[in-house]
Amino acid sequence: MVAFDDLRDRLTAHGARVRADLPLAELTTLRVGGPATVAECASTDALVATVRELDEARIPVLLIAGGSNLLISDAGFDGVVVRIANSGVEIGDGVVLAEAGANWDAVVAATVEAGFGGLECLSGIPGSAGATPVQNVGAYGVEVASLLRRVRLLDRATGEIRWVEPAELGFGYRTSVLKHSAAAVVLAVEFALRTDGSSAPLRYGELARAFDAQDGESRPAAAVRAEVLRLRAGKGMVLDSGDHDTWSAGSFFTNPVIPDSEVAAVREAIATFAGPEVAVPTYPGDGGVKFSAGWLIERAGFAKGFPGDGAPARLSTKHTLALTNRGAATANDLVTLAREVRDGVAERFGVHLEPEPVTVGVSL
Ligand code: EPU
Repeated sequence: MVAFDDLRDRLTAHGARVRADLPLAELTTLRVGGPATVAECASTDALVATVRELDEARIPVLLIAGGSNLLISDAGFDGVVVRIANSGVEIGDGVVLAEAGANWDAVVAATVEAGFGGLECLSGIPGSAGATPVQNVGAYGVEVASLLRRVRLLDRATGEIRWVEPAELGFGYRTSVLKHSAAAVVLAVEFALRTDGSSAPLRYGELARAFDAQDGESRPAAAVRAEVLRLRAGKGMVLDSGDHDTWSAGSFFTNPVIPDSEVAAVREAIATFAGPEVAVPTYPGDGGVKFSAGWLIERAGFAKGFPGDGAPARLSTKHTLALTNRGAATANDLVTLAREVRDGVAERFGVHLEPEPVTVGVSL
């Protein structure tokens, strides 16, 4: 452990608010994670100075912003957690600039209220603005990569700060060069908006149907935002502290992209177990076919709410892709459930599910 008093003074001088032994469960939407020293940085200057100081001292750093995509060990983190809490938001003509720690849904809401469209399909997603490019957050047919203008990064190796264009970020389905990399810290993000107040083209079946829209038509952004919030809430995917179905990290597994050469075998396994008449939902994927992980989990025998009442960690009762903490779950409870689901799907359908959250001190 690092000498706490000396460190606290140095980080405090940079503008960080330092607390020892804070349960990280308080900082994550899954509400698990043991204790750590936390330096909360409410300004970009404090964030940059704090990370530089810790890097120079070679103290391990864990960056947390909204905490919505993290599964942290019950042992906590032996190093310093830097809480990204810079939260300024500026909306100009067709552009929004948000500091990394700004609450993502508040950013989306502010753009829609200001009369701009584009981000409304990404309403109700928990977490921070700065996290959205890291895993190329997407929902209801829109990915942040499609609207992003630039990202402001602190390069931890050189200490340099610069704006980076999307082309440099290697975006893919729920991924970018920033994911699983400690090389850079996102300081701010900037998105291009639609100035006529219309939504992004409606491409997701469930959403387009709600508006009776032909594929690719737009609707007023405010109406689309309201519908997305309604759909997400129906799946338990909007945070509500009183509802354990929302104590999750959103989708726990990404939808698997099966290479073209293996699609026939997967379809055959599905027909064998689920019957030849069932239609598995699929989507076009990069270099293959994207299958629905939620559907595969359910058909592999893990119903919504699995394993049932009283278990500390269960699948959401509204959506099989969300692993939930029913109030007293440990990280181990969640890991055990995740392994059981992953292994069951692999056994039944020969499909390997990849976890979406970043794990800290635990492995699946
Ligand atoms: N399904 C089931 N059982 C379930 C849930 C879903 O059989 O319990 C079936 C549904 O019937 C549907 C299919 O699975 O046919 C797809 O379900 P859904 O429309 O809910 O979408 P998803 O593929 O499970 C993805 C994203 C979500 C995003 C929604 C809407 C991933 C891993 N998940 O979910 O993103 O909100 O589409 O666009 O890409 C997230 O990444 O954290 C996330 C919530």
